[in-house]
Parts: sequence; structure tokens; C-alpha cells
Amino acid sequence: MNQKPSAKEAKIRSTNRSEILRDSFSLTNSQKELGKNLNAHIITYGCQANVRDSETMRGILTEMGYAFTEDAQMADLIILNTCAIRQNAEDRVLGQLGYLKKYKDINPELVIALAGCMSQEESVISMIEKSYPQVDIVFGTHNIADLPSLLERHYREHTRVIQVYSKEGDVVEQLPVLRDLSHKAWVNIMYGCDKFCTYCIVPMTRGKQRSRLKEDILSEILQLKEQGCREVTLLGQNVDAYGKDLGNTEGFSELLEAVAETKMERIRFTTSHPWDFTRRTVDVMADYDNIMPFLHLPVQSGDNEILKIMGRRYTVEQYKEQIDYLRERIPECALSTDIIVGFPNETEEQFKHTLDLYDYCRYDNAFTFIFSPRANTPAAAMEDSVPYEEKQKRLLLLNEKVDYYAEKANQAYIGRKVKVLVDGISKKNDKIVSGYSESNKLVHFRDENYRVGDIVTVKITGAKSFYLEAEKEE
Ligand code: SAH
Ligand code: SF4
Ligand code: F3S
Repeated sequence: MNQKPSAKEAKIRSTNRSEILRDSFSLTNSQKELGKNLNAHIITYGCQANVRDSETMRGILTEMGYAFTEDAQMADLIILNTCAIRQNAEDRVLGQLGYLKKYKDINPELVIALAGCMSQEESVISMIEKSYPQVDIVFGTHNIADLPSLLERHYREHTRVIQVYSKEGDVVEQLPVLRDLSHKAWVNIMYGCDKFCTYCIVPMTRGKQRSRLKEDILSEILQLKEQGCREVTLLGQNVDAYGKDLGNTEGFSELLEAVAETKMERIRFTTSHPWDFTRRTVDVMADYDNIMPFLHLPVQSGDNEILKIMGRRYTVEQYKEQIDYLRERIPECALSTDIIVGFPNETEEQFKHTLDLYDYCRYDNAFTFIFSPRANTPAAAMEDSVPYEEKQKRLLLLNEKVDYYAEKANQAYIGRKVKVLVDGISKKNDKIVSGYSESNKLVHFRDENYRVGDIVTVKITGAKSFYLEAEKEE
């Protein structure tokens, strides 16, 4: 029986504590053989939550005997792990599905699966059923562990299989994982989101906020450390709300301190939300050298009225205080943000307030977006007086500021020495090694004897808006 998503159920939040499932995943003997001599290819869209989920899918597929190919044309199974945050994210996936249809003409045995946040949308699934016959399997963000049984069913029945729960969600521990990298790792600390910002689809696609237990997170990090991993990024839609569903309001700063005590070499976290972000977290960041001096604190708008309609629950003044405290305690801390322009009925004046806030915060970097109406969110139902061309103009103006401050912040590094965790050869130039500094700056330098995962000291010699150029210290 197919199970399709329900927009109505996706909004439900009960006061029930989420279940923590252990040892819930196992494969039958036939499932362990299913992927023998087959190649899989996963295309990942969206945020780090998806990147980490794709690593779980790869772990599961590996246990089923699948190998992986970088070349989609060689694949017997292609999974699209999708993002629904804005319409253009969805359009990219639909375009890709159109393209993949041709691969099916060449290889009729090819199986195409749709996963991730788009599969949680009722409207998307109706559209897939009607117009995208090339999709064989759909599984939701709560159904990753069902992948083996869904594949098995599809191979057996040769029909389209849809398995998407719209439930609030559990915490599923001990799923297999095949990580992309060994020197740095994503570590989920919580799933879901209960903030329901009025423009955002995530609370519906990811379910209720569910924190993992501190001991599970710490033991994962200690294990990673033993395996030689040098950097972890703690992941959650609102990391500062960590533990609140377990009844602990200072949960995140306590967790962060405990993670720092594991002596993992580099610790990062994302994403923070000003609603729950505390001074105590800044204090912990300041106290530990292994917590990296970088904060991504999305502000969304610099106007109090817009913030209110967005449901963000903080004012510009409160946000500025948070930034002031951060800069007072950790002057070298780099700062980035997310901003939405063209929220319904945003006036010229209100947009100007965002530009003013940008000047105040002088961000190292920012991700900027034009508001995109998402199905079943309150903002999508608002009438909007702002023409799209005007929104595009605002985005351009804002991006000029982003580039200006990014370059300025980077120029301040010229002549300074920074420590870089080496990721490998740059994608664009095989003579250049790249990695990230402690403050999360992309750094390029030459080094013929580089080793992925080394932490090296380099001297900054040049600055662009998106990266720094450096020379290695001998
Ligand atoms: N949980 C994080 C980020 C979630 S999504 C947070 O609360 O900050 C990443 C970013 O996408 C958001 O910060 C927001 O700037 C943007 N975004 C979310 N919904 C959007 C929409 N409907 N239109 C345009 N941008 C959106
Ligand atoms: Fe979306 Fe708001 Fe939750 Fe972030 S906090 S994921 S923007 S609802
Ligand atoms: Fe996109 Fe889902 Fe992440 S909507 S941003 S992939 S949580």
C-alpha cells in the first residue's frame, strides 16, 4: 500500500516526547543481496541536513551490496535527495527529472527515487503521480530506514512505490552511515523545527523538533575522533533550541561545552536562531579554543514589523545586542547571516532598514534570497503589493553590500597567519590546495606535499570576496 503525505497532518504538534528508536534497523538476507553488481548515484540538494541524510542512504545502500558511481549514466539506481525551501530549488529537481528520463530510455532497468523535503509535499506528490512516470520510488524524510523494503517491493512488483509519513517524527539511532569525508563530519544534534516562521516549509517537511540524547551525540563524536576526524559541525535547524523538547532550556550551551571537552580539534555548529541564542553560548564559544570563531546567525530582515509578520520573535534591537555581545567577547569572530528580501508588502523603507542593519553588523558573508511563496505557509496566502522586478532590484542592492563587506572583511586578513584544515586540491585549479580557516574563510595556497586533513599555518597574501590567497609557512 502506498502512503502519501498529508499537508494537514504535517502541521500537527503534540506534546508527546519523541521516541528514540535503537536497533530498529536490520536487513533481511535477501535485502543484503539486492544491490549486488548494481551501482547507485545520489544527487543531493539543499542544506546540510540533506547532505547528512544522503550519507545515511549511502550507508544503507552499502549494506545492501550496492556500489557507487560518480557518473549518473552508469547508475542502476539514482536517488534525488531534494529541497523544497524555495520554488527555484524545486524547479531544479523537476528539470533534472526531465533530463533523467532520457537515461531511462537507454537503460530501462534504471530505478529513479525521489527523497528529501519535496517528497513530503502533498502537492508535489500529486504532480509526480500525474506527470512524472519516470519516478519509481518516493520516500520521505521520515522514511529513510524504509529504503531497503521499498526497493525490494519495487523490484518485485515493478510498480511505483510511495512511502511518505507526515508524522511528527522519531529519533532513529544507529542507522548505517557512509560519510563523504574522513577529516570532517556532520553530526546531527536534533531533527525538525517547531518555529513555524510564516514563510517556511521546513516544519512541515522535517516534523517536530526532536533532540538526540547528549550521550548519543558525545559518543558519536568520540568515535569520530578515534577514527581521525578533526572537525565536527553540530547540525540542527535551530541548534540553540537543543534540549528544549527534553525539558532543558540551557541545553545547547551545555552540550557545546561537553562537545568541547571531548577535545575534538575543531567544532562548528549551524544553524543558530536569535530567538534562542544565549549569552551563555557566546561565553562557551569564548572559553574554548576548539570551538571555531564563526557564527551564522540568520536575521532575515532588519525591520521590526516584517520580523513580527515573519514570526521570528525578536527585534532588531535584541539582535544588535546579541551581535554587540559576541563582538565584545570574541572580537575575531566571523559572522554570517541569511536575509529574505521582498517579503509580502515589504516597503522601500522597511527594506532600507535591512540595509542599515547590514551596515551595523558588517557581516563576513550572507545568503540572500527573494521571498518564495511555499504551499500551506501563512506568508504564501498574504496579498503582496511588491512587483517581482522590485524584489530583484532589492536583491541586487543588498548583494552589492554583501560583496563590499565580504571583501573588506577578507582584506583585513592580509598579512595575518591563519590555520587551515586542508580539504584537498581546488576544484578549479589542480595546482591549488584549499581548505577553511578557523573563522570559516576559504583559503587557497600552493603546496605540493599537502595531505587532506592536515592543519597547516599559512600567511594571507591576497583577498577576494569569496576566498583568501595564502602562502604556506615553511
Ligand atoms: N533554520 C534556519 C534556516 C532554514 S532555511 C533558520 O531558521 O535560520 C535557510 C534559509 O532559507 C532561511 O534562513 C531563509 O533565509 C531562507 N528561506 C526559508 N524559507 C524561504 C522562503 N519561503 N523564501 C525565501 N527564502 C526562504
Ligand atoms: Fe524555517 Fe524558521 Fe524553522 Fe528556520 S526556524 S527552519 S526559517 S521555520
Ligand atoms: Fe531544503 Fe529541507 Fe534543508 S527544505 S533547506 S533540504 S530542511
